[in-house]
Amino acid sequence: MLRLHNVQTFHGNVQVLKDLSIEVSEGEIITLIGANGAGKTTTLMSISGIVPPRAGEILFDGKPIQNVSPDDIVASGISLVPEGRRIFPRLTVMENLDMGAFLRRDNAEIKKDVNHIFELFPILAERRHQQGGTLSGGEQQMLAISRALMARPRLLLLDEPSLGLGPIFVKLIFDIIRKINTESRTTIFLVEQNAHMALKVAHRGYVMENGRITLEGSADTLLHNEDVKKAYLGI
Ligand SMILES: Nc1ncnc2c1ncn2[C@@H]1O[C@H](COP(=O)(O)OP(=O)(O)OP(=O)(O)O)[C@@H](O)[C@H]1O
Ligand SMILES: [Mg+2]
Repeated sequence: MLRLHNVQTFHGNVQVLKDLSIEVSEGEIITLIGANGAGKTTTLMSISGIVPPRAGEILFDGKPIQNVSPDDIVASGISLVPEGRRIFPRLTVMENLDMGAFLRRDNAEIKKDVNHIFELFPILAERRHQQGGTLSGGEQQMLAISRALMARPRLLLLDEPSLGLGPIFVKLIFDIIRKINTESRTTIFLVEQNAHMALKVAHRGYVMENGRITLEGSADTLLHNEDVKKAYLGI
């Protein structure tokens, strides 16, 4: 479904992604793990067209998207939940969800999706008229994920969804990730510092160091890999 081939992305003069190659099959949850500054967020920004690569190829359903605008990438079926749960703080929960559907015209279906999201996250239904900025951190993350889902993505990119959340919210977010994947067969590309939880939920994983993939394999293999254990699992 998604193929990054020798992607090279720069921030100004600094090359962050160095010959990055990743493949994601339809229906999978893949996770990308790596230390601070490895280039995980930059990878998601390259896929979503926010920081296009300077060289290499990104194929979605076999078609190159490395020069496509961010809006057209959303329209093609890829949505990003950015790091730091960036919702619209002054808009209500309902208005935030509407913003996620800004490219859609199928109003009856949009209503259905809102109802589905309120089933996934009952707390958001209770808070539907409350301003986004007044929600707790965990609730804001739920809203950020929900807003991305309102675009009906086939591929959902999640940047550190569990960051800064307490254990109960962390578990809830990972349960929801699994549910989104199994119920609607949404393919998920998960960036996480919580390598343990990420590898538990994912089918396959990639380890990134300094803009390069240094290890890849089934999530189970990575969970039991000695280097991964030492560097990312703290065992
Ligand atoms: N807008 C920017 N301008 C210049 N350098 C940047 C910019 N964004 C990121 N970088 C640099 O690119 C490198 C990779 O950053 P990136 O945010 O992709 O890492 P990351 O793996 O997501 O890290 P973290 O786990 O801390 O979120 C870092 O060295 C960072 O300082
Ligand atoms: Mg990051």
